[in-house]
Amino acid sequence: MPIERVFVAGAGLMGHGIAQVHAAIGKHVTLYEPELQRAQAGKERIAASLDRLVHKGRISGEDREAQLVLIEPTGDPGTVRHADLVVEAVFEDADVKTALWRELDRLAPEQTLFATNTSSISIDRLALAVRPARRALFVGMHFFSPVPVMPLVELIRGSATSDGTEAAIRQLAGELGKQVIVSTDRPGFIVNRILMPFLGEAMRAYEQGVGMAEDIDAGARVGLNHPMGPLELADFIGLDVCLGIMKVLHEGLGGEQFVPPKVLQDLVAEGHLGQKTGRGFYTYPR
Ligand code: 3HC
Repeated sequence: MPIERVFVAGAGLMGHGIAQVHAAIGKHVTLYEPELQRAQAGKERIAASLDRLVHKGRISGEDREAQLVLIEPTGDPGTVRHADLVVEAVFEDADVKTALWRELDRLAPEQTLFATNTSSISIDRLALAVRPARRALFVGMHFFSPVPVMPLVELIRGSATSDGTEAAIRQLAGELGKQVIVSTDRPGFIVNRILMPFLGEAMRAYEQGVGMAEDIDAGARVGLNHPMGPLELADFIGLDVCLGIMKVLHEGLGGEQFVPPKVLQDLVAEGHLGQKTGRGFYTYPR
């Protein structure tokens, strides 16, 4: 079944980027948040990102308009009745995701594909939220931030995911210009299983006073040729998101490398979540 109409649930860091890349290849996108204002804010963020591309001469003003017109913000979950595909990118919490999937399963046509952008939670666990017949259509489709820039999609099959669902997601990822890697349904999948111990170890080095944040980050940027240092990358991803992923990894796999560092737990408890709150390991002008 060709995918033309995409319902993106969640208009935050990941959701707005996922909406943007689908509109960029001509898909009709419904951008959903329970509060309409948040969906509208997601669309404004996309408009600002497209402004940058126009300014750099990467796309024309007409392209910008053509892409924006394809994105419809909504606060009504019932609009999922038009969707060929749902991509869910809400907060990384199994209960939050389960409640949303249960609701969308009631409202969506029976052939609609369900893809979760979870960064660590088991696909089989989330698929329990939908009726058994839908589970063949339920899959993990994990994007990387910033979505318009990072050319990877991690595809995760649950035990019930059908070959047809995998093929449809592969086809779409190809249209989006993303390379697909396939992971089994294990905590953190492939990329976050590799990434989080790296970020965690940088945080432990920081809390033990091994080096200043700037020196730890420069070590990775200059010495390892990473585009960002681990502490600035954690701030960029969101410290609450990193903490949530590390907890899933630690609960599911054990191992000291997955234990969330104390400095991370403290920052999150104080509401310092990184770039999005203006403070994490660094402070950011607002
Ligand atoms: N939308 C569209 N384009 C964007 C963008 C955005 N939000 N942000 C950056 N870009 C584009 C710029 O326009 C620029 O394009 P150009 O080369 O054609 O001019 C290019 O990306 C580079 O951007 P900048 O020059 O502004 O800045 P940098 O060179 O410093 O790159 C970066 C910024 C791409 C974010 C780079 O620092 C980077 O790759 N960082 C690492 C990101 C990363 O590791 N992401 C994965 C996080 S893990 C994850 O998402 C999984 C989750 O489960 C946790």
